[in-house]
Amino acid sequence: MSPHTLLLLVAFHVNISVNSVMIVTRGTPDVFVNSISLELIWEECLANCTQNDMCVAVHTIGDGNCQIFEFGDLQTVKRSNDIESKFAYKMKNGNLSTCPADDTVGETNSIIGINGTSGREVYIEYTISFDQTSQSWNFQSTSPRLCPHARYKMFKRALGPMFLAWHKLLLWKLYCNFIYLYYDAYSGIDTPEEFEFLKERADSWNWFNSSYPLYAVWLSGVKKPECVGNPSCQGLSAFSFADPTLSAHPTGFLFNPGKPDGTGEDCLAFRVNSDRTCGIDNAQCDQGRTSDNSACITGQVCGLPPS
Ligand SMILES: *[C@@H]1O[C@H](CO)[C@@H](O)[C@H](O)[C@H]1NC(C)=O
Ligand SMILES: *[C@@H]1O[C@H](CO)[C@@H](O)[C@H](O)[C@H]1NC(C)=O
Ligand SMILES: *[C@@H]1O[C@H](CO)[C@@H](O)[C@H](O)[C@H]1NC(C)=O
Ligand SMILES: *[C@@H]1O[C@H](CO)[C@@H](O)[C@H](O)[C@H]1NC(C)=O
Repeated sequence: MSPHTLLLLVAFHVNISVNSVMIVTRGTPDVFVNSISLELIWEECLANCTQNDMCVAVHTIGDGNCQIFEFGDLQTVKRSNDIESKFAYKMKNGNLSTCPADDTVGETNSIIGINGTSGREVYIEYTISFDQTSQSWNFQSTSPRLCPHARYKMFKRALGPMFLAWHKLLLWKLYCNFIYLYYDAYSGIDTPEEFEFLKERADSWNWFNSSYPLYAVWLSGVKKPECVGNPSCQGLSAFSFADPTLSAHPTGFLFNPGKPDGTGEDCLAFRVNSDRTCGIDNAQCDQGRTSDNSACITGQVCGLPPS
């Protein structure tokens, strides 16, 4: 048996949101429900798959016959000895420094990728495996769980995937009286990565530009009733959270120095400070401003479990 030729492509193109490798070998798609046909030569076909987060495998017989398979489209591929029947599948392979030893490697993993058709983020769990008996590769995946809108960003939390979005009031530059509404849809900040997302959004609206007023947004986090007026309640544990996938001990609430403080009926907000740093602060739930009266609360950070 001749050794299988393997080609390892590591994707570092800026448009690619998922780092991956293509395992290149020979095979014939056996069971599949759909594929995309493109008139591309093999190298372009491989590159096209690498750049499409939704693509899990490609096949071609002869140049100009590129068949792209997205997650869910393909079930099995049989090994082929036909040198013209080229087949490649994509794996995330966390160990990018290690070249897989052969073409029978598989993995169980998940991706958060961008569906190029809708521009929305998608979460998919999948398993790729090789069956020695039937000499075929098996592809299984959960149906894609789609972000409700392109402005949402998905985060994979320990308790399940969650989409975060930032809702500003329509007339947020005119009004500053956005009290805490007891929606269940407010999101907490599970990880520093989620905090970073809020920072990026704030930056995209120039909130760190010193010629702008100071703004803030509500998050999930309401002072527990037994902690109102009770100075023995300290830190994050004085607050309760409606957010269903927030960890028991979230690490993303990066508080301003000395915060949270006070024993009032407070809720939590992400805010820009007067020195244009940012952090989490506590503010009176029934006020549209931070307690130092400097920042205006103009919206909320919402979270949605995937549909
Ligand atoms: C794949 O190729 C098709 C046809 O040439 C092109 O329209 C599409 O943008 C390509 N996709 C990627 C991700 O490069
Ligand atoms: C990466 O390599 C480490 C150490 O060899 C191993 O424990 C781990 O399972 C590998 N991860 C993947 C995704 O292959
Ligand atoms: C990408 O989005 C399109 C349009 O919303 C949808 O038809 C397609 O199934 C999606 N593909 C995946 C793999 O999620
Ligand atoms: C800050 O905002 C002002 C007024 O809109 C603008 O002229 C300036 O370029 C901004 N500065 C930066 C660093 O974006």
